[in-house]
Amino acid sequence: MGHKVTGLDLDERKVNSLQSGKLHFYEPGLNDLLLKHLNLENITFTTDTQKAIKENDVIFLCVGTPQSPNGSADLQYVKNAASSIGSFMNQYKVVVNKSTVPVGTAELVSNIIKENQPSEVPFDVVSNPEFLREGSALKDALHPDRVVIGSTSKKATLIMKELYKEVTCPIIETNPKSAELIKYAANSFLALKISFMNELARLCDELEININDVSKGIGLDHRIGPHFLQAGIGYGGSCFPKDVQALLHTSRKNGINLSILERASEVNRTQATYFMEKLTNTVGDLNGKTIAVLGLAFKANTDDTRESPSLTVVDYLAKHNCNVKVHDPVVRLQSSAYIQYSTIEETVADADAIIICTDWDEYRNIQWHKLKDLMKQPLLFDGRNLINRDDIIGLGYHYISIANF
Ligand code: UGA
Repeated sequence: MGHKVTGLDLDERKVNSLQSGKLHFYEPGLNDLLLKHLNLENITFTTDTQKAIKENDVIFLCVGTPQSPNGSADLQYVKNAASSIGSFMNQYKVVVNKSTVPVGTAELVSNIIKENQPSEVPFDVVSNPEFLREGSALKDALHPDRVVIGSTSKKATLIMKELYKEVTCPIIETNPKSAELIKYAANSFLALKISFMNELARLCDELEININDVSKGIGLDHRIGPHFLQAGIGYGGSCFPKDVQALLHTSRKNGINLSILERASEVNRTQATYFMEKLTNTVGDLNGKTIAVLGLAFKANTDDTRESPSLTVVDYLAKHNCNVKVHDPVVRLQSSAYIQYSTIEETVADADAIIICTDWDEYRNIQWHKLKDLMKQPLLFDGRNLINRDDIIGLGYHYISIANF
């Protein structure tokens, strides 16, 4: 969109890799876009903090806000970035919080910048949360449902609106605190939808009701909406688990019990184990059994395994002395808990059971009739309800799912 962008990071390896056109993580379509803008000289990457701050009018804070042991968001990277901005800013800047940060962080950033300024230079801090998903980051970022601008300055708001002028979606103008809460409320509400379906699926399992039909049946009601109603082995990733805990922490600190979210978090904590209990109930003693796990990523189209329910499954199997064989189309992760194979055939060879943990399309399209004879017994646990129940049973598999009847 014609802007000149500088990507600043302290990690030299990441910066060098990006500058040479190589993305250091998997995100469909992003590497091509990176190469395009490097060629057009629209973007450069640097570790030179001072230069990056001095040369740019708008500074986006996109640093991590990991979970602290008490559940709150760890703001050390936000604080470090704010103090660098204060130290080096030479003229008016708009400082934009893109990171997911708790209510009150815009004010905190503003105070840190002021404290670190050698002499007074004007600036504004704006909260502009990001709503993109890993795996569909490009589409989400370029075609968002909405842009939220939390600002107390007319000048900064105008600059932000100019930046987003080619994005055709509603723009919500609000104050920084509301913008900060909108981000946590959005992620928490989506997590809540998933946990509701996962808990309802436990009831559906008892009643032999297809949770996918229930999901369709309620999702067509436009007040509910069709998205994030897919039951499975729980939500993972670097956002939902952490952001739910951070919002719960903020609520407790303010004397409010967000009990509905506490319960959603608890359902998620137990969902993978709930599924593993079905394995124990079917297979009996797991000791020495060979189990094939399909998928390590926390969802399809990413190589991210942070808080992945697959790892909970692997951990459960390893604790029960299983011989764990894993496969993932893109994740390469070393662990003493399992052996990873590069083909699905090798992974399922001699397996007592297969467990699907990630919703990769590759697993949807498996030629199951070819795998059956490779296994010790045709036992399939579908943790993502990817497979058509009638087809797979027709092939002679014993099929267990999350209420996919
Ligand atoms: C999430 C939000 O969807 C984004 O809007 C937000 O910007 C992002 O967090 C963030 O805060 O940075 P992300 O974690 O990349 O995005 O992935 P999601 O697509 O939301 O999936 C999260 C987890 O929920 C995955 O484990 C996925 O398998 C699970 N999920 C999702 C379900 O179990 N059922 C569903 O119906 C949908």
